[in-house]
Amino acid sequence: MEIKATNTPQLEWAGDALAIGLFEDGMELTGELAKLDEKLTGTLSELIEEVEFKGKVNSSASTRVGSKSPIRKIIIVGLGKSEDLKLETLRQAAATCGRLAKKERCKSLGICLPMCQDANSTAAAITEGFELALHQDHRFKSELENQGPDVEQIELIGLAGSDEAIARARQICSGVILARELVAAPPNSCTPITMAQTAEALAQEFGLGIEILEQEDCEKLGMGAFLGVAKASDLPPKFIHITYKPEVTPRRKLAIVGKGLTFDSGGLNLKTSGSGIEMMKTDMGGAGTTFGTVKAIAQLKPDVEVHFISAVTENMVSGHAMHPGDFLTASNGKTIEVNNTDAEGRLTLADALVFAEKLGVDAIVDLATLTGACVIALGNDIAGLWSPDDNLTAQLKAAAESAGEKLWRMPLEEKYFEGLKAMHADMKNTGPRPAGAITAALFLKQFVKDTPWAHIDIAGTVWIDAENGCNNPGATGYGVRTLVNWVLS
Ligand code: BES
Ligand code: MN
Ligand code: ZN
Repeated sequence: MEIKATNTPQLEWAGDALAIGLFEDGMELTGELAKLDEKLTGTLSELIEEVEFKGKVNSSASTRVGSKSPIRKIIIVGLGKSEDLKLETLRQAAATCGRLAKKERCKSLGICLPMCQDANSTAAAITEGFELALHQDHRFKSELENQGPDVEQIELIGLAGSDEAIARARQICSGVILARELVAAPPNSCTPITMAQTAEALAQEFGLGIEILEQEDCEKLGMGAFLGVAKASDLPPKFIHITYKPEVTPRRKLAIVGKGLTFDSGGLNLKTSGSGIEMMKTDMGGAGTTFGTVKAIAQLKPDVEVHFISAVTENMVSGHAMHPGDFLTASNGKTIEVNNTDAEGRLTLADALVFAEKLGVDAIVDLATLTGACVIALGNDIAGLWSPDDNLTAQLKAAAESAGEKLWRMPLEEKYFEGLKAMHADMKNTGPRPAGAITAALFLKQFVKDTPWAHIDIAGTVWIDAENGCNNPGATGYGVRTLVNWVLS
């Protein structure tokens, strides 16, 4: 698929489909739109009337244009009120147009949307909308049903000069797509071994630093919490550390840590049926986002050093499994009573956070499909953010806002640590049911001494089912665009 900015005005554009964005408060066809309607012998005004199109956000319509016209279809997409226009509106509008164009078997598409902020931000948002809506994952299908032609060429009308911004947006999208593909791959295909191979391949392709710690290496570092989780798996654990270093002196040094459970059975405190156990391939979503961010950052080449870390394993059951009640010692020397083997993510993250802090970075952000409690609290559209650091919180919220990814700060209520107090060990890994997402964050906090740190729970946002009224169901790649914005900020 080719995406480019063009100088051609909408009146002169020729191709399969012309898509036009309309505001609720801009529904009278005046100026350019009136001329276009005239040129299309009234098709545009007829369409608007026929479907009672009001320009509401997410509304759209399309119709065939007379055969003598240089365009075959006209697509209209609603943008809501002009005063509310955001980049996210443009992303959604482009996504809608892309899906419609595909459905209508259009190979070439011209799109005319209003400017938001500046030409480059506008072009980037539109590009993201198209790329992420039109990406389809066919890796595991033996045959494809009802495949019409692909949209091959998209032209952004009125945004000439934004080709560099389009190229960068596409690099970011390649990271989002990698994250999605890793999450969507089943647990018999995406394993700690294949995750390590993916990391090696990324490092090879983009010339990044890579270090993969095997079980013995992790033992030497005293990573008892991570290894406790890995014990029952027949597959070797892999502790993955990828480094991006700019050619210039880095402006700052950051670490991104992702939970990497390629499958979470719950261990001996086994997940029951109805718990969503069959979806626990998504439990490496933090690592997926981390790798996706690697791919984007390696292409964007910012002047920031970034360490990407994931302790990858499965949480399984076997005669080697850790027992509910085992005491584990993490690499910072803290002891943990494992009162529930299903609270495994925080155990793997504990050692990953200790490792990250030892690198001497300026800030650490972890992403994890950590708790069902976060899904209950915030649903599938909003991720939870916990951080003792107001400055880092502000950076992440701004990064998420411009990415169009929803993030809500939750309280790190110290008092609730009471619930994690253990009789003989330093702490338990699980507290009482109330505030389960907060106690999980408080647990992680024990493994970061004084580096600014934030934890993002993506258990809800990692995957979205079609039933949630989502027109792009499946793995979301949530977090890649936020993290990229954060690193660049
Ligand atoms: N991977 C799960 C959390 C999860 C739940 C992710 C639903 C995506 C969807 C995590 O390892 C887990 O099992 N958490 C437990 C913690 C509990 C035992 C304290 C949970 O949330 O039930
Ligand atoms: Mn679990
Ligand atoms: Zn888990």
